[in-house]
Amino acid sequence: MLAATGLTKEYRRRGEVFNAVDGVDLTVAKGEIVSIVGRSGSGKSTLLNMLAGLLRPTAGAVRFDGQDILGWRDAEISRWRNTKIGYMPQGQSLLANLNVLDNVRLPFFLARRDGEITEKASARLAQVGIAHLAANFPAELSGGEARRVALARALINAPELLIADEPTGDLDLATTNEIMKLFAQIAGDGTAVLLVTHEAEAVISPTGARIYEMAGGKLAGRD
Ligand SMILES: Nc1ncnc2c1ncn2[C@@H]1O[C@H](COP(=O)(O)OP(=O)(O)OP(=O)(O)O)[C@@H](O)[C@H]1O
Ligand SMILES: [Mg+2]
Repeated sequence: MLAATGLTKEYRRRGEVFNAVDGVDLTVAKGEIVSIVGRSGSGKSTLLNMLAGLLRPTAGAVRFDGQDILGWRDAEISRWRNTKIGYMPQGQSLLANLNVLDNVRLPFFLARRDGEITEKASARLAQVGIAHLAANFPAELSGGEARRVALARALINAPELLIADEPTGDLDLATTNEIMKLFAQIAGDGTAVLLVTHEAEAVISPTGARIYEMAGGKLAGRD
């Protein structure tokens, strides 16, 4: 489904030039779970942002179902991302002035699809276990609840690939476990899942996950 080859991002900072991501090859197949661990600054978010078409690589290719994404114009990439990719950014990403239900419905309106969305959004909220919080605002939620909203939002357009950047960062172990179980369910439904986790959490990545380690912009497999 997703295949990246030689993916590289060069950054320049006050005269310093370095590769935040350095020649990464990665494939993710339908229904598969891939976990990436690595120290802060090793290039994990930069890699995910390139795979989601949010950031243009300096070199390399991203193919989705055989199509060369980077050959497309920005508007086409946006359309592709909005329909095929669910993205959970690192950290807090909910819009503070929208309630939970509206946060979840937002990507649907961006994709300008027809049909009844409120029911779908409510079903996604129920799927992630927070149907009762639909009318609440982000400031009224716990960290774990906010992550569930971000997950429901990422799933609203029924993506083929879910990309999640530290979806359980700073959550307690029990909540982390619950969210990991949700990822396993989502993959079981056929959606590919690509996530960045902390080292300690890699061990509780959903069963069957392929685990990679990122260091200095390079990605290496782990057994
Ligand atoms: N826009 C930018 N310009 C210059 N350097 C950047 C830019 N964005 C990120 N970097 C640098 O690139 C490297 C990789 O950053 P990245 O955010 O991908 O790391 P990360 O592995 O996600 O870290 P964390 O675990 O803290 O989220 C870091 O050294 C960071 O300082
Ligand atoms: Mg990061």
